[in-house]
Amino acid sequence: MNDRPYKETDKMSDLICSNYSLLMVLSRFGLPLGFGDKTVKEVCAQHEVDCNTFLAVVNFVEEDRSSLDDEGDGVSVVSLMSYLKRAHVYFLDFNLPAIRRKLIEAIDCSSSNEVAFLILKFFDEYAAEVRKHMDYEDKVVFAYVEALLRKEADLPPYQISIFARRHDQIEAKLTELKNIIIKYYPAKRDTNLLNAVLFDIYNCEADLAMHCKVEDYMFIPVVRKLEREVKGNEKQ
Ligand SMILES: [Fe+2]
Ligand SMILES: [Fe+2]
Repeated sequence: MNDRPYKETDKMSDLICSNYSLLMVLSRFGLPLGFGDKTVKEVCAQHEVDCNTFLAVVNFVEEDRSSLDDEGDGVSVVSLMSYLKRAHVYFLDFNLPAIRRKLIEAIDCSSSNEVAFLILKFFDEYAAEVRKHMDYEDKVVFAYVEALLRKEADLPPYQISIFARRHDQIEAKLTELKNIIIKYYPAKRDTNLLNAVLFDIYNCEADLAMHCKVEDYMFIPVVRKLEREVKGNEKQ
């Protein structure tokens, strides 16, 4: 752990000050603000969060990695899965609805504005796709991992390799939405609201891309390891 940028002895406030996007990681681990001068280890202990998993995610996000240098040694599957579940709730119940509200405010939704109508339609279809993607993870993948963790004798007929193969990137369509707005939305003098929505869409796109990376390069390897342990033991 020592060669990574953040350590358990670092002050939590320093970590946020050096990279504010880590705020999202904090809230998805259920860590509230107001930690004064407490260290990462102290804040995690106070809120019963697995410190190793928290640091592994923080360092993964910080370094924008595309692999784990070990097989995720020390990363708790339970803790990482609860982080991913909270992220789903954030995207589906908070972030995407907030962007939609802002979008309606920023564009002229009268029936005569065809581009505005198309933008909203495109956004709604996109949000439905994200919901489908995350519902599958919640109901199929995470349910399977929970059964693995309980070491159930009758495991669902599933393997994490199926998820690894079918897991697609969900942020790409947001790039298209951005392009429609940037290239085709009829110009108006006051673009402050529309620019603010575009900023939100850019952030959401980056956040979703990182979410998918954590699933691909952290979650899948640690579940694969768990699968080997549980299923390997079953065979003996
Ligand atoms: Fe996900
Ligand atoms: Fe995903």
